[in-house]
Amino acid sequence: MRFVFILSCFSALAFAQTPAASSNGEAVYKKKCAACHEQTSDRIPPREALQKLPATRIVRALDTGAMMAIGFTINRDDRIAVANYLGTKEVVTGPPPSAFCRDRDVKIANNAKYVWNGWSPGNVNARFQPADIAALSIDQVRGLKLKWAFGFEGDASAFAPPTVIDGQVFVGSAAGLIHAMHADTGCLQWVFQANGSVRTAIVSVPQGNRHSLLFGDMTGWFYSVEAETGKLLWKVHVETHDSTRLTGSPTVYKDTVYVPVASWEETRSGDPDYPCCTFRGSVAAFRIRDGKQLWKTYMTPPPMENGKNARGTPTFGPSGVGVWSSPTVDPKRGVLYVTTGDNYSAPATDTSDAVLALSLKDGQIVWKKQITAADVYSGACAGQSTCGPDFDFGSSAILVNSNGRDLLLAGQKSGFVHALDPDKKGDIVWQTRVGQGGTNGGVQWGMATDGQRVYATVSDVGRSRQTNMTTDPRRYILDPKQGGGLTALKVTDGSKDWHVDAAPCPAGAPSGCSPSQPGAVTLIPGVVFTTSTDGHLRAHSAEDGKLLWDFNTMRDFETVNGIKAHGGAIDGPGAVVVHGMVFISSGYPRNGGVPGNVLLAFGPE
Ligand code: HEC
Repeated sequence: MRFVFILSCFSALAFAQTPAASSNGEAVYKKKCAACHEQTSDRIPPREALQKLPATRIVRALDTGAMMAIGFTINRDDRIAVANYLGTKEVVTGPPPSAFCRDRDVKIANNAKYVWNGWSPGNVNARFQPADIAALSIDQVRGLKLKWAFGFEGDASAFAPPTVIDGQVFVGSAAGLIHAMHADTGCLQWVFQANGSVRTAIVSVPQGNRHSLLFGDMTGWFYSVEAETGKLLWKVHVETHDSTRLTGSPTVYKDTVYVPVASWEETRSGDPDYPCCTFRGSVAAFRIRDGKQLWKTYMTPPPMENGKNARGTPTFGPSGVGVWSSPTVDPKRGVLYVTTGDNYSAPATDTSDAVLALSLKDGQIVWKKQITAADVYSGACAGQSTCGPDFDFGSSAILVNSNGRDLLLAGQKSGFVHALDPDKKGDIVWQTRVGQGGTNGGVQWGMATDGQRVYATVSDVGRSRQTNMTTDPRRYILDPKQGGGLTALKVTDGSKDWHVDAAPCPAGAPSGCSPSQPGAVTLIPGVVFTTSTDGHLRAHSAEDGKLLWDFNTMRDFETVNGIKAHGGAIDGPGAVVVHGMVFISSGYPRNGGVPGNVLLAFGPE
């Protein structure tokens, strides 16, 4: 019986995964970089050019930049080792003094009115901003104009949503910088450097007469930073597995912050030498005051060694079931709803592709409703027929009251929207298909609802594996015609109210343009805001889907912080609407889309 050796196998593996001392930068370079960077091609910077870059910039290129597709196959210690081997020790200084405000005071009122704080206004994750707080009429939406653009220097992705509190903005970035800035001008008050990229929303919480900002990074660290000063209050390494990423935004209720934990191990396992898979998704609860962990609930039992792959590399399971989205709070029932992703390796568990209710108090699983069973999928699946369909939930379950009845609405990569009954352990009330679905299809970052209709966009991207990886570091080539679509469903019964197809990319759009719409939807009374991999931010009438306003972010921008910046694919957080302004970040090359590095702020004429 192999299964007896749980502890011994596991600790040996954990050691192998963090070979900090044994990481050899030169060896990594020869194995993973030299084939491209030693050849003379106009497109590829030669080794001598890389040797002039700061090591921190090279790590960033591998983590979230132009070299992401290569970075995916390398653990983080090796990324750091190769960056140190190649790059300079130059310390990258923050933004120039001219980017800062003259008055750098950060003041936050505890009774602030104009607030978008965290992933969604309110803990039910409806992404609905009421009229008095949005303060933006349909007519004003039609006349929205760009007020300012802020550039994230050296970044290829801009994927964090801003938190806005009465004219005060906080936003993370791919470089791991948290920015405190003024909403009306985009000038900076302070910046804070995190260990890794920050793409979660930031939640501001009162602490005495000051405020804590709570957010996670893409290396598994979670932070509390003082909003008034940018000073670190505490940080915890929520999960030390090498592939951890905190992508889902934290949720706050009373004195506790709930942190969802996911990973990129699924992608990593495309390498047959990688012992797949050992990551376990989880949710952890921390006391906001001091970061003390109150509980942590794993979504699978611990993995055990259970065989070898064709290459002879040991395999482990069960694994996966990452939590990619912001948890939803239900104080009435005393539970936290989380949605989960697939299993990475066999055996499958009954917690993957599911909606779970955890006790707010101790994290115990109160009920679970699996939507897609036996979904074991990883990077090793390419060309295999025995794998699951990869139908993760990537977005939050929305708790909504419709005609006096509570429902949980959840959109899935399968292309379905599900309505579950929170009083009957998640029994299915209705299910409606809004897209084709697929490994990168269906509903991804989330829907929006006012309790009457639920609005969903789908990715359904058309993409093919890059075959010319010898010079082109993109993993996928996107189809400029396939994907996207916005559907409005009635919340009561899931029937379709209206649907609008996405427009294909125009001829001459940059390579990487796609009409797919993986980004989250935002709703204000009368107006639905959608985003697309074609770089557009659009406003539709909530009544019939008619286009009210359309802005193409896929272009160059002059920025208030003085750098040249550009927009690209929008894939991730949707629009943030508060006090007459609309914010969006643009740029996302991860799935073959167009890179970009801007945060844009719009206001009425
Ligand atoms: C498949 C070919 C290929 C491989 C393998 C590859 N690179 Fe690159 N690299 C490129 C190309 C092409 C560019 C230019 C990217 C662009 O301009 O979009 C580039 C650009 C870069 C840059 C500059 C990015 C920036 O932000 O300006 C860095 C740094 C870099 N590579 C580091 C590495 C390291 C380190 C490795 C190995 C771990 C590596 N590359 C492996 C093809 C490759």
